[in-house]
Amino acid sequence: MEPMGRVCVFFGLSLALRMMASAASCPNPPLPGIGSSQIPEDVCIPAGFTDLTIDFFDDYSWRAFMAIVAPATGSGPRAFETFHPRWEVFHEDGSAPGNAARDNTCSVKTAPGDILLASSTPIYDVGQTADGALLGPLVAQNGRYVRYLTAYNEIAYNHIVANKWYLRSHLPEVPVPRPPVPPVQFPNGSVVVKSAWIEMDGFSEPQRKRYYTRLAMVKDPDNGKCASVVVGLVGLHIVQKTPSRPQWIWTSFEQVDNVPPAEPGSTGRFAFHDGTETPMPSQNPYGPVPLAKEPVKPFNVARAEKAPIHPKTVETNAKYRKLLAGTVWQNYQLVLTQWPLMAGDQSVPVSATQAGDIFQTFPGEGATSAFANVTMETFNQSRPAQGCMNCHNRARLSADFLWSVFMHAYPAKIVVPEKH
Ligand code: HEC
Repeated sequence: MEPMGRVCVFFGLSLALRMMASAASCPNPPLPGIGSSQIPEDVCIPAGFTDLTIDFFDDYSWRAFMAIVAPATGSGPRAFETFHPRWEVFHEDGSAPGNAARDNTCSVKTAPGDILLASSTPIYDVGQTADGALLGPLVAQNGRYVRYLTAYNEIAYNHIVANKWYLRSHLPEVPVPRPPVPPVQFPNGSVVVKSAWIEMDGFSEPQRKRYYTRLAMVKDPDNGKCASVVVGLVGLHIVQKTPSRPQWIWTSFEQVDNVPPAEPGSTGRFAFHDGTETPMPSQNPYGPVPLAKEPVKPFNVARAEKAPIHPKTVETNAKYRKLLAGTVWQNYQLVLTQWPLMAGDQSVPVSATQAGDIFQTFPGEGATSAFANVTMETFNQSRPAQGCMNCHNRARLSADFLWSVFMHAYPAKIVVPEKH
């Protein structure tokens, strides 16, 4: 046992030293810049910094975003498009992960970077999320549903495969008494993205040009037919497990023409708002079952006045969007970063024993800034307890915060209420 102990101490020490060394070189304030094509290993907070860390986390979020929307190999598909999609990992018959034609509901052979927006049950890729459950869909102004796609990077994917966490029988049960650290732990460097896409039919050319668009195989929830169509990226969640934040860092981006106000230089038209005075309904007019046939009558979506994008985030966005001028990515904005809160020196890693509940996360209880993405948590903008981390915290002990793992491990455990 002796040598093992030494090895662990050595690794622990070298991690601490590495983190101290990197914290010493963290500029304050952060220097926005086009970084490397690698997602940063961690947030960069100067040693001894005790104030609100929003600028550092937002800078991290932008660097993470730029790294994953960069072409994976210099050209061709974007890095996040080459991640392993949820359909590859979790199969309805519990078979091992694979991306053969028989593994997806469109029965198509895919190449790395291909995108398939399809699921065996229509609501699985259009349902908005509640805790462990799927609710009604979001409809764009062209009457089409927003499609969601979850995908895991190599580190997260390999870890799921090695541990057979695609099988519920291999996901450790939460022991009683509840342990301080989740029995399921993803390794540092695990990255999971959830992207939101719309079909672009009915969008004018000037409007279309402001979106990142590409071809995707999309399944019609009504007749079950799969077709290759042009889709545009409207939202992107990125979460990464890092050495200093074992509760993951929660990042969320949106395309800027989703909802009012209109940006200078935009066409003045929105993907989720018709530009009239008609308010957003207080609850989704559409339920998850039965799913209304497309095209569906759209409704207006707005960002809640009480939870605007944080003014500091707006400042950081302006700097990065300027750096990205001339690319389609200048039309995307960071909506929020969420992270675990603690007292004292913010460069010190947070203990994995700390939960991700609302009282220990930013923006927390009484939030005055955004805690939701209008394309993904559309109707969850009024109660801060419905923010990213507090909802995902309910999957913390069972699946290290990752709802998709808890819900889709075979046999799946997904609640789809008959009514909304
Ligand atoms: C009310 C609950 C709830 C809220 C709020 C919420 N999510 Fe989720 N999220 C879910 C559920 C449920 C899934 C899994 C859906 C599925 O796979 O069928 C999910 C999936 C994800 C995934 C894919 C990995 C995973 O955990 O399965 C990411 C990444 C993610 N959410 C990020 C975010 C971010 C960032 C926010 C805040 C802006 C957020 N979520 C807010 C419930 C929520």
